[in-house]
Amino acid sequence: MYNRQKEIPREVNSLGKERMLVTGGHALEGQVRVSGGKNTAVAVIPATLLCNEPCTIENLPDIEDVHALADILTELGARVEYEPGKMMRVDPRPAEGISISYHNAQRLRASYYLLGALLGRCGKAKIPTPGGCEIGTRPVDQHLKGFQAIGAEAGEIGGILTAECEQLTGGDVFFDIVTVGATVNVMLAACKAKGNTVIYNAAKEPHIVDLANFLNSMGARIRGAGTDIIRIRGVQYLHGSTYAVIPDQIETGTLMIAAAATGGDIIINGCIPTHMDALSAKLLEMGVKVTDQDDAIRVHVVGQRRAINVKTQVYPGFPTDLQQPMSALLTTAKGTSIVTETIFEQRFRHLDEIRRMGAHVRVMGRTAIIEGVSELYSAPMTATDLRAGAALIIASLMARGTSEIYEPGYIDRGYEHIEDKLRSLGAEIRREPVL
Ligand code: EPZ
Repeated sequence: MYNRQKEIPREVNSLGKERMLVTGGHALEGQVRVSGGKNTAVAVIPATLLCNEPCTIENLPDIEDVHALADILTELGARVEYEPGKMMRVDPRPAEGISISYHNAQRLRASYYLLGALLGRCGKAKIPTPGGCEIGTRPVDQHLKGFQAIGAEAGEIGGILTAECEQLTGGDVFFDIVTVGATVNVMLAACKAKGNTVIYNAAKEPHIVDLANFLNSMGARIRGAGTDIIRIRGVQYLHGSTYAVIPDQIETGTLMIAAAATGGDIIINGCIPTHMDALSAKLLEMGVKVTDQDDAIRVHVVGQRRAINVKTQVYPGFPTDLQQPMSALLTTAKGTSIVTETIFEQRFRHLDEIRRMGAHVRVMGRTAIIEGVSELYSAPMTATDLRAGAALIIASLMARGTSEIYEPGYIDRGYEHIEDKLRSLGAEIRREPVL
């Protein structure tokens, strides 16, 4: 049973009670190992509810979103043994719940994956609208459309997302836009539908492939994950599995950008270089040396970094989750960079904070025009979301002096012990309570 007493005390991880102090000017050097992926973990953990036997998930990152999902599965009645930073063993058989508390739903965006998982498990789900980063309106219309396409009644009443169906029947799902969340949710529900489901215009992110691999390891019949057409043949029974999630693509990218920002030379071990191709190409364009190895990437800076243009796209394009750390890096690149954020409509709030450090940035709608400056100066700043927090760290690593980053709890949602990793590479970074 997941012992809630062991849970990290809220006051340590809650927003506003701590600050991070970062003293810039240290070139990062050495080797670091990347953790398991947040966005794959938060899809794979709910998927254990579809299983008819116990499952073990390994290589889970010790992050707030994973702790939240351990609590949510426990709330639903599953037996959860969780060793933070190691593994989670889930026995879903005793779970009888079809809804979760508003508090738990609000702790992360991925709480809405319980819709697809419970719909596939027992044909009924009532989940309060999720929390997650405030980076745009983030509607769920495509999730509901997908559930309806396989026979469910699905909607939102009073801030509660509901989905219900006696027996799901496979169908064709045509997404109006490429959406990771809706692709995950429909995959979860369709696994146990009667008949075949085809998802058109599916998301292709690495975590979609990882979820399909996990489901197939339990006996699901999913083909085409990683392409824009995913075919799912429903099955009645899923057997237990032990599965290790893939490394975190966005943590890998954030560490690569940190090395570029500090003029360093690091090797990131345990990553999947091909997942990083879009970022690697952009760093090479800036004049940063990036060398792919089997399961590692070396980032090595010689000389001035040049300004570039970046446009976020769905995978395999430049990831929106790396736009914020990258735009922080570009504030000191030589020349003017143009960053276009095509996925979310409000993902530049970190630049308001970094402007306090002397950055020259203009934001017009979904475009940021960044004129590189020779130096940033330390400043007190506040993280407004997970990747904004990462961007503030990147900027602080480059700045003269010691910057303060408030509300670092956002960063803990998606990065496992980021200070330890950066400190092991020579960064001067620590956390202290705000008295
Ligand atoms: C997932 O969010 C990730 N979160 C995000 O990472 C990531 O930025 C995003 O995918 C894009 O890669 C998790 O995996 C938990 P979407 P998600 O559905 O699923 C619109 C991080 O920092 N849309 O692909 O919410 C939506 O508004 C987080 O780790 C609809 O219009 O993203 C957005 O503009 C932040 N209707 C676009 O699609 C819908 O029903 C892409 O959203 C669903 C989405």
